[in-house]
Amino acid sequence: MSSDEMRRRADAFRSTGVTYHRYRPGYPDDAVGWALPDGARDVLELGAGTGRLTDALLERGLTVTAVDPSASMLAVLAARHPDVSVVEARAEATGLADASFDAIVVGQAWHWIDPAAGSAEAARLLRPRGTIAMLWNQRVPEDGWQAAFEAVQPDPRGVDLISRHDADARFPFGAREEFRTAWERTIPAEDYVQLYTTQSPFLIASPEEQARRLATWRSLLRAHAVDRVTQRYATTVWRFQLPG
Ligand SMILES: C[S@@+](CC[C@H](N)C(=O)[O-])C[C@H]1O[C@@H](n2cnc3c(N)ncnc32)[C@H](O)[C@@H]1O
Repeated sequence: MSSDEMRRRADAFRSTGVTYHRYRPGYPDDAVGWALPDGARDVLELGAGTGRLTDALLERGLTVTAVDPSASMLAVLAARHPDVSVVEARAEATGLADASFDAIVVGQAWHWIDPAAGSAEAARLLRPRGTIAMLWNQRVPEDGWQAAFEAVQPDPRGVDLISRHDADARFPFGAREEFRTAWERTIPAEDYVQLYTTQSPFLIASPEEQARRLATWRSLLRAHAVDRVTQRYATTVWRFQLPG
């Protein structure tokens, strides 16, 4: 994918706050726990969106600053969590003060961030021995109608996009550690359709193409008489630590 296409897809989230929040999943507790260093207090969340990951940070009693370039996504987050400090900015240039955070977390968003500029900014914002962790939820569709449903709208997995340019990232951090976990959720069939409308390939498609995909998805569900869907997910977390 070209960098222009990446930017177009990243910017697609500018208009989708409420729908996004309603249908996207949160993050499993073991992954969130692993993403954070012991004793963390001040946490910066980059690409925070509507706050799906923020919820889990607040439940742990952390003080969260949430950064995202989309006013529409941040409006949902701010309405749900008025005490969180929100900053409308790109992760590459947040305008926040040096060495202000014990940890940075990035849910489903690091692949939208320029790796060199984003890493340099993250290193500036972290305190010594601070950590940055990137989390990705990946759908694991079952063989059969779920795989056919997924194939209507191919969506490169975030963790694969980042692997592709990882070599240029020049993280000013230590070695990468990785954690993986698996989980599932069961949702109404219509929510399953709507989930796919929150993805960047849908958001940037023409209205005609969007209507075609919706019709194909609904006919697949009808053909298989599905009214609730159990969705399997694999969550990957990458964690890096600044030197002391
Ligand atoms: C897939 S959403 C993830 C939102 C949230 N973290 C979650 O897990 O639900 C990706 C988010 O990255 C944001 N984004 C896109 N480009 C960005 C950038 N350069 N810096 C920070 N965030 C960015 C989008 O506005 C969007 O809110």
